[in-house]
Order: sequence, then C-alpha cells, then structure tokens
Amino acid sequence: MSAALRGLEGKCVLITGGGKGQGASHARAFAAAGCNVAVLDIDHDITNIYPLSTREMIAETVKEIESCGRQGVGVTADLRDEAQVKAAVDEVLERLGRIDIVVNNAGIAALDTIHDMRSDVLHAVIDSNLKGAMFVAKYTVAPMIGRYLNGEESGKIINIASAVVGSGHAMLSHYVASKHGIVGLTSAWAMELSEFNINVNAICPGTIEPAPGRGSGMVQGLSGAMDMPPLEAYETFSSQGNMPGSKWRCTMQDITDMVLFLASDNARVITGAIIPVDGGQMAK
Ligand SMILES: NC(=O)c1ccc[n+]([C@@H]2O[C@H](COP(=O)([O-])OP(=O)(O)OC[C@H]3O[C@@H](n4cnc5c(N)ncnc54)[C@H](O)[C@@H]3O)[C@@H](O)[C@H]2O)c1
Repeated sequence: MSAALRGLEGKCVLITGGGKGQGASHARAFAAAGCNVAVLDIDHDITNIYPLSTREMIAETVKEIESCGRQGVGVTADLRDEAQVKAAVDEVLERLGRIDIVVNNAGIAALDTIHDMRSDVLHAVIDSNLKGAMFVAKYTVAPMIGRYLNGEESGKIINIASAVVGSGHAMLSHYVASKHGIVGLTSAWAMELSEFNINVNAICPGTIEPAPGRGSGMVQGLSGAMDMPPLEAYETFSSQGNMPGSKWRCTMQDITDMVLFLASDNARVITGAIIPVDGGQMAK
C-alpha cells in the first residue's frame, strides 16, 4: 500500500492570498497534484502595510496552474469587504463549478506597541486575517453542505494560523490576537460542520524564509520596520522561536506539504486539529 497522497486529482481548490508567497506555493502544488485552482487576492496595497499582491502576480500564479494542464482562475477581492468576497466566491463557483477545498491563507502583520498602536493597522490586521476568513467560509460552506445533502463528497477547510499562538510575541498583539481567533474558528467550525463531513483544520507555521517579489512576504515586510535585511530578520525570529540548529528553519514548502496532506484523503479523519509546522516553536 502506497503512502502517496490520495484523492486530490480533479478537486477544485480556492486559496486566498494566492498571488504570491505561501499561497502561490500551495497553488502550484495543488495544480501539480491534479487540482483546478482559484486564487483570490487583493491587487493593491493597504496603507501602512508592506507590499501585497498585484494583478500581475495573480496572473502569474494562474499561468503556473495552467502550465500543469489544470484550470486556473484569478479573482480579486479585498478580504475586509464582505461584498467583494461574496462576488469573488460566486465567480469562482461559476467558473470552476464547485469548491472542494478552501485554504484561508491570506494574512498581514505589522509591528506596533500597545500604547501607540495605529488604528488603521489594527483594523487592517483583524479584518484581513480574521473577518476575511469568516467571510470566505460564509460563502463557500453552503455549497459544500449542499453537495453533502446530495450524497456527494463535501469539503475541507484549511486555515493558516501561526506558531505565535503558542508563544508570546511583543509588538505583534493585533496579529497574535487574529491568529488566536483563527484557532478558535477552526474548532468552532469543526464542531459545526462535522455532521456534513467537512474537515476543518489549522496549520501553525513557524517563521518562513522570506524572498522578494512573489516569495514569502511577511518577514520580508516586517524586516523594514526592524531595520535589518530580511534574511537577518528571519534568522532573528527563527533563532528566538525554533529549536536550535539550522535543521529547524521553516520554508514555504514545509507548509505546502502539510496543506496538501490535510486536503488529501489521507487526512480523512483529522478535523479540529491545530497542527504546528514550526521547527518546534510551539513546544518551547
Ligand atoms: N511568513 C511567515 O513567517 C509566517 C509565519 C506564520 C504564519 N504566516 C501566515 O502565512 C500566511 C501567508 O504568509 P506569507 O508569508 O506567504 O505572506 P505574503 O505577504 O507573501 O502573502 C500574503 C498574501 O495575502 C494577501 N492579502 C493580504 N491582505 C489581504 C486582503 N485584505 N485581501 C485579500 N488578500 C490579502 C496578499 O496580497 C498576499 O498575496 C499568512 O496568513 C501569514 O499570517 C506567515
């Protein structure tokens, strides 16, 4: 019996924040595994947040999906806006026919002290990271339930939290709170959706190796405010958080591997799980 991932071929996947970074990595891997993939992303920056995706980046991911011989769909929406999310999900449902797997990956972070927290940043982080995932679930879950009631396979939701939920982090309180919220949503949704055979799980990535352009942008973006080069910021966060030694540094591929596992039939009975992929950060 093979341990290869089962049941991904032919599935339709929606990934938020798929224009760049980890979301684009997940999109490429799903397409290579035989899935049709839609990426939902913003195509402009948010005030006081480092550069996000652009229309060209979203188109690049769609091209990468199509180069695997699969259908790729790119839709733009600001996750902070429920009406935009609804319109984008409707368009994906129309163009792909259905959504089997949702990956709530999009997210932003910023460094702020508690007493000098910028109001626009506080709202942007909570609204993008937490409310955005709720809006996406609101409009993707009903068709999954509908398919279950028709006797078909229903669906899977994979939320991207962060290993910050297992350790304290100064100057990231809005981000940390949003990711604790994602963990809460994961267990609440797992309870509510189990009767419809929908699996809901969360992954908690450790600090991910950054890169410019379409690489992982979070540490790249925060490094500016830390006044250090991105790879130095990555090393600083990783050496504080992870187990000691270079083996315990995290890359996008480590997260992509877990996303695909949770989306596969191999993870059939896993639900409500909060899974660290973090070089040991949450164990410390
Ligand atoms: N990079 C890390 O070290 C790290 C560690 C733990 C968890 N995470 C989480 O992993 C996920 C991906 O991180 P990444 O490093 O790939 O970041 P990234 O900045 O490279 O990508 C984030 C994506 O989310 C999109 N996005 C942000 N706000 C949006 C909004 N309001 N509406 C629509 N799209 C929006 C961006 O355009 C971008 O495509 C995030 O949820 C992040 O919190 C990252």
